[in-house]
Amino acid sequence: MKAPLSGRAAVVTGAGSGIGRAIAVALAAAGADVLAADRLPDRAEETVRAIVALGGRAAALGGDISDPDSVQALIDTAVERFGGVGILVNNAGLQHVAPIEEFPLERWNRLISVMLTGPFLCTRAALPHMRRAGWGRIINIASIHGKVASPFKAAYVSAKHGLVGLTRTTAIETAAAGITANAICPGFVDTPLVRNQIPDLMRNFGVQTAEEALEIAVFSKTPQRRLLDPEEVGALAVYLAGHAARGVTGQAINLDGGMVMY
Ligand SMILES: NC(=O)c1ccc[n+]([C@@H]2O[C@H](COP(=O)([O-])OP(=O)(O)OC[C@H]3O[C@@H](n4cnc5c(N)ncnc54)[C@H](O)[C@@H]3O)[C@@H](O)[C@H]2O)c1
Repeated sequence: MKAPLSGRAAVVTGAGSGIGRAIAVALAAAGADVLAADRLPDRAEETVRAIVALGGRAAALGGDISDPDSVQALIDTAVERFGGVGILVNNAGLQHVAPIEEFPLERWNRLISVMLTGPFLCTRAALPHMRRAGWGRIINIASIHGKVASPFKAAYVSAKHGLVGLTRTTAIETAAAGITANAICPGFVDTPLVRNQIPDLMRNFGVQTAEEALEIAVFSKTPQRRLLDPEEVGALAVYLAGHAARGVTGQAINLDGGMVMY
């Protein structure tokens, strides 16, 4: 049987770690050629090695997706190496945890530029290629924080709500062009992004242990009482990238162990 995404070229941002790496590997396993992009090129190379070890085809590229020149280079590289960009996964992200009154403006600007402006820049650069091909899949890795809020995450929650809005606008503008745009809204996934924020959560919640912080921030809000695996997000991305999902567009799909039900 032919691999479902064979002949498709995918760009995955933030592919050097966590969810981005799992998505890159899953898309490659489904047959796509993958350009693994990350601010940290060594991490992107590790992802490429994992894909090649599984028999897939991939290339790595460093660059900051909040920088328009880096983004243009990213899309140009996908076109040169793999003949186009049919699947764009806007995944790169970061977190900063602090009360609003103490939230540094520099951190606010950084989170918004990486998680909202970055996906806008990548979408803008990729769309002409998708329109020309008459086929495209844009998958924005938003968050359950694109639908609900938590304390101390003002920039993250604002960027992710914005990304859901960008997804919907993209879906409407491209609906007649064979292109879909959807957001995946994960709950808490076991990645460095979540693990690294535990000390700040402990301080802000006034608790002594990581277990207490996770209980307040994650388990008490998640009916399944567990962290998700990055591979679960990869599997949903493969579905959204495939032919079966051609009617799904403009959606913000929760993958969150039952945390939010709308
Ligand atoms: N982990 C979770 O619980 C969770 C939940 C919901 C949504 N998300 C979202 O999933 C995405 C991936 O998160 P993760 O948990 O895998 O985090 P992670 O920290 O493991 O990986 C993020 C990757 O993005 C890269 N990156 C950061 N800034 C970049 C930039 N400017 N340009 C290019 N690459 C950049 C980092 O180098 C890193 O490799 C993020 O958008 C995050 O907001 C994560």
